[in-house]
Amino acid sequence: MRVIVCEDYNELSAQAARLVASQLILNPSSVLGLATGSTPVGMYRHLVSMNRRGDIDFSDVTTFNLDEYYPISPGSPQSYRYFMNEQLFSKVNIDINNTFVPNGMTDDPEKECLDYEKNIEAHGGIDLQILGIGRNGHIGFNEPGANLNSATHLTELSESTVDANSRFFDSEDDVPRRAITMGIASILKSKKIILLASGASKSRVVSELLDEDINTSVPATLLKVHPDVVLICDKDAYSGTRLGVDIGGTNVKFAVVEGRKLIYKSSIRTEKSSADTLISSIADECNRLKKLYPIKTVGVGTPGIIRDGRVNAANLPFRSTPLASGLSKLVDMPVTVDNDANCAALGESEFGAGKKYQNIIMITLGTGIGGGIIFDGSIAHGKSSMGEIGHIIIEADGGRPCPCGQHGCWEQYASVSALIASAKEAVQSEPNSLLSKLAEEKGRLDGEAVFDAYEKGCKVAAKLLEKYTHYLAVGITSLINVFGPDAVILAGGITSRGNLLIPMLLPKIPSSDVAIEISTLENDAGSLGAALL
Ligand code: F6R
Repeated sequence: MRVIVCEDYNELSAQAARLVASQLILNPSSVLGLATGSTPVGMYRHLVSMNRRGDIDFSDVTTFNLDEYYPISPGSPQSYRYFMNEQLFSKVNIDINNTFVPNGMTDDPEKECLDYEKNIEAHGGIDLQILGIGRNGHIGFNEPGANLNSATHLTELSESTVDANSRFFDSEDDVPRRAITMGIASILKSKKIILLASGASKSRVVSELLDEDINTSVPATLLKVHPDVVLICDKDAYSGTRLGVDIGGTNVKFAVVEGRKLIYKSSIRTEKSSADTLISSIADECNRLKKLYPIKTVGVGTPGIIRDGRVNAANLPFRSTPLASGLSKLVDMPVTVDNDANCAALGESEFGAGKKYQNIIMITLGTGIGGGIIFDGSIAHGKSSMGEIGHIIIEADGGRPCPCGQHGCWEQYASVSALIASAKEAVQSEPNSLLSKLAEEKGRLDGEAVFDAYEKGCKVAAKLLEKYTHYLAVGITSLINVFGPDAVILAGGITSRGNLLIPMLLPKIPSSDVAIEISTLENDAGSLGAALL
């Protein structure tokens, strides 16, 4: 089976339409096998446009549809005959007499099935068969466990198919419980087959199809015996179920992701006694989740520096620890490890505020400044320290010392710790300021207090934030100048005051065409991004 993974549904539809068009150009009197359902709708739309432009001709084409509900009248809007007329036949130059859909009103379904099969054979068989796939793996209405060596036949719909198809009816009770469908044997006689799958709801069945041997519980796996099948799916349907792990100083977070959808999350306490205990506690949770979901891969975000597969992290017991290989042995799945800030950036770019942009820089403001650079959907990596944006030097002479060994690093001026340090100095020199009073009342001086005082009109807080946003803007401007991203996404606790921060920051950044946004995922960005590694 050849697999084509498309960026999205539109690309999938265009790609499928191109293959059908090639078939019609090579053989204008082709016999097409067609499917209904939501998935091929976009493909039909493209075919209609191609036909209207004169690129393809349907005048000599014959079509056989896979299936029809039973009983149902062809005039009923839920019937597959009606669907095909609406989506394709009435919009292209096909002779309607050359379009065949099983008769859902027949008094003699057995004869209808035999005649349908004979009619396909009389037309020389199907040259190209289009299929969708049910969430339970059905093709046509060949449901799991059914006789899979059958020709066209009358069949019972499974409960899950009735449930899935009820969206086209007023209520589930209105969905016919039976259908006439081409059998697997009829489908396999087609010369070529295109199977379409779109959306996260199909990711589980697509991974079953790709990973499992032929079996009757997933009827689509029978397509594996056919020599010419192309599966065209979008990224959401293809990526399967993945597990993301975000190791933090206090908790380890887990996210199970299907396609681009978060389906489950959990967390455990970070075991800090040794690297082995931490890794085995993470493995235990991974194995628990593996029993519940068809997880295929694990991605891990960890603080620290990762070089040649070994992790060094100051706040965790990782000292040259082979995290990926160690965890992979315990969970029996491939494990990929990356820096946690990079994972958060990837998560934000795929699931959060960065979704609408191609290239983003994510900046996490906290004790230091972390960050990740995402270009064309991937993390930009250097040898080890790419993305250490907190250590770009913004004060070349006499800059503040940084624990990294340099002087004048950006995080010494624009991290939340830097803001608090400046606030402490200000409170000492202005003990009567509103900020001093607020800090006294709260019993501590934190970033929150600076914003609260500013909101209440404190001049000292206003000056502090003016200076702070100046430094923040200096670093952001440098990053924009170097990387030219579409957007800069700010994250970290301080961004909960984005309503005050952003208006002060924006006028200080000259590149007005770069969007400056606040993260929307907060604590989940790291585990979601790790799942996509
Ligand atoms: C339709 C058909 C079904 C659908 C399948 C997927 O003629 O035979 O097998 O292809 O149920 O449906 P959608 O595309 O709506 O997800």
